[in-house]
Amino acid sequence: MWDKRLSTSLGPIKLKNPFLIGAGPASMYLDDIKRAEEENAGGVISKSIGAHNSNESIKPTDIRRYKWIRGYGNYLKSTYLKEILPMDYGMRLIENAKSQCDIPIIASLFYPYFFEENSIDIWLSLFKEAEKAGADGIQIDFFYLDLKKMCNADIYRVIEIINRLARSVKIPVFPKLNIRMDDDLIDGIITNCNVGGLIYLDSINVQPYIDISNKGRPIFDGDLYDSLTGASNSVVAGEPLLPFTFNYTQILRSKTNLSLSAGGGLDKWQDIIRCLMLGANSIHLTSVIMKKGFQHINGLKESLNKFLDKNEYNTLLDLIGVSLEHYPEHFGKIKSRETLQVKTTLLEDKCVKCNICENMVTCNSFKSIPYNFDKNCDGCSMCHDLCPAKALVYDIH
Ligand SMILES: Cc1cc2nc3c(=O)[nH]c(=O)nc-3n(C[C@H](O)[C@H](O)[C@H](O)COP(=O)(O)O)c2cc1C
Ligand code: SF4
Ligand code: SF4
Repeated sequence: MWDKRLSTSLGPIKLKNPFLIGAGPASMYLDDIKRAEEENAGGVISKSIGAHNSNESIKPTDIRRYKWIRGYGNYLKSTYLKEILPMDYGMRLIENAKSQCDIPIIASLFYPYFFEENSIDIWLSLFKEAEKAGADGIQIDFFYLDLKKMCNADIYRVIEIINRLARSVKIPVFPKLNIRMDDDLIDGIITNCNVGGLIYLDSINVQPYIDISNKGRPIFDGDLYDSLTGASNSVVAGEPLLPFTFNYTQILRSKTNLSLSAGGGLDKWQDIIRCLMLGANSIHLTSVIMKKGFQHINGLKESLNKFLDKNEYNTLLDLIGVSLEHYPEHFGKIKSRETLQVKTTLLEDKCVKCNICENMVTCNSFKSIPYNFDKNCDGCSMCHDLCPAKALVYDIH
């Protein structure tokens, strides 16, 4: 049932309520997605779908284990081949979910490489397949990519690739943020990328949790994180992320009007209301659904309705962002750093004077000679793709 009072949105996607199922074990089977809908989820973000196919063999050592450690959240050890859904299975899942459910389905997509041209082609084909399968939107899962501390050139490259991927489909695209991601990259995405919104926080890689009664032995020993095989050491999600989830919500909202979907350690209705008051438009739940099941959503929905009644908010939209007036104006604002002023420049020695760029109707930079990027370029990177000589690039100096 469409509950007008709780309705909200994820970018252009309408949600009947703010409770999304986050990407994870609860969104990898069709029956579970159907149950999520029955139990009133506002939408589902699929378990991430990769570029490998189901017939690719998984080594016997590719084990996947989750462990709930009381008070410390959800620790897991995984390898991406086992963790990430194969492309054929994943796209079928989206297609079936779309034909059998009415709630929005966001396809989370994943590939462990991002920067090289052939990796971009793989991302592009994943995007195309997800759109073809009927997904309402795409989440870009950056989990296995190292985006911690980046130079300007790499930040520009990520921005350029996200824009290129976003342009390749008509559905909205949502980068998934984690707390290890370079702040300048996040600011750059907010300022320069044409995305439907931001989804955060992803789980994080951590050192293994140790057992003090067993001489400090790591609970998950064995493989360490390896970017080639995708084997990770322990990963944490759930409770430990909660303070960061509040913090990111407040900071992101003070920087941008983009749609925000907050997650990480959310379980209690009070904490969900905190995120909404700090400016999140929706929230997503992963660990708590693994622990308490889909029926938890109904309880949250009831509590949220009671809270609105008691505190005389007519609708959820009246509550979203109310906390922001208590923060000083300047708090969290993006400082005008050079990294954010992404503009294109012409490499004159490469230009073959084919005029393709001058025929673009969407950009005024090429309407005069010499081209005037200072005045007209907003860094969308569309011309980079069009130029056959690769003479149009971001000006990073
Ligand atoms: C077991 C497990 C598997 C997950 N798999 C994915 C995934 O495939 N793609 C993704 O973007 N996030 C994945 N996540 C991260 C969650 O979507 C979520 O961002 C994170 O767990 C924080 O939310 P939580 O505290 O409610 O679990 C996974 C989390 C867990 C616990
Ligand atoms: S010059 Fe125009 S098309 Fe090229 S990046 Fe700038 S705004 Fe986009
Ligand atoms: S598209 Fe590239 S090669 Fe052609 S005129 Fe423009 S900058 Fe030069």
